[in-house]
Amino acid sequence: MEVLVFGSAIVDFVAYADRLPKAGETLHGHKFVTGYGGKGANQCVAAARLGAKCGMIAKLGDDAWGANYLKQLQAENVNVDYVEQCKGETTGIAQISVANSGENHIVIVVGANNLLSVQDVKKAKNLFDTAKVLICQFETPLNATLEALQSFKGISILNAAPAIAQTPPDLIKGATIFCVNETEAALTTGCEQISTLEHAKTAMKKLLQMGANNVIITLGALGAVYVRGEAPHTFIHVPAVRVEKVVDTTGAGDAFIGALAFNMARFNDLPWHQLIGAANRVAAYSVQHPGTQASFPNPEQAYYNAEYTWQEL
Ligand code: RIB
Repeated sequence: MEVLVFGSAIVDFVAYADRLPKAGETLHGHKFVTGYGGKGANQCVAAARLGAKCGMIAKLGDDAWGANYLKQLQAENVNVDYVEQCKGETTGIAQISVANSGENHIVIVVGANNLLSVQDVKKAKNLFDTAKVLICQFETPLNATLEALQSFKGISILNAAPAIAQTPPDLIKGATIFCVNETEAALTTGCEQISTLEHAKTAMKKLLQMGANNVIITLGALGAVYVRGEAPHTFIHVPAVRVEKVVDTTGAGDAFIGALAFNMARFNDLPWHQLIGAANRVAAYSVQHPGTQASFPNPEQAYYNAEYTWQEL
């Protein structure tokens, strides 16, 4: 197995409107869709679309959403041996609003995802022992995430999203790569805002001080930055791929992480700016198409094999 995801599977209820509502405001939207989401499953499907051999460890409800989600993961060629429908539980849901600008607001109620446990790590030992890359997020219980990271011997990517203000240091230290977007990096580090490359460099320094082994911060239209743990620390910016029109940013960060995991599993001898540049390209494809998993490309759609530029910060 190339990519193992220990994390969330959620059904997305997505309303499209001209703009996002203000607090207390009711807005007319112009479209409504349901889709398969949850950061964990999104990342898994993004990697599988690119051709990675993937497996998912996750909890669904014993409702129709859960049954359909299980079939959907199978249709995406994901190993679901450890995806369980839990009796008496509801499948996690996300209420998402998307504006014409492509920006979104998301509220999640994780339901059955809360049952993912330390025991589930132990049960899936065969997958933990054989996978090349592990991905975890923060939509499932943190003690189980920590167990997953500490049980894994390959390359682990912790997507600390949704971010929490007091991230337990063991989680930060437990992953090979700590990967967040600019908003999550600000909350995790206490930096006021991260809107420039200089801010991102400051946040990366803080994350290294907090114990991160390697750091990647995604910056939307600015692309991504990274620093590797070995001294001397070199801070690198990998610019974004040009986008014609942003349609829907939902899941773009997950597309990036799924692609990154695939790249790390398949092309680990390439320099990181290449692996991150190709992941930027997958995220760029995603923001130009509506939906979450529906917007993830296959390798041909993403024009995957290219040379990516980078610069030292
Ligand atoms: O990152 C996007 C995802 O966040 C959505 O699919 C939603 O389910 C929430 O988990």
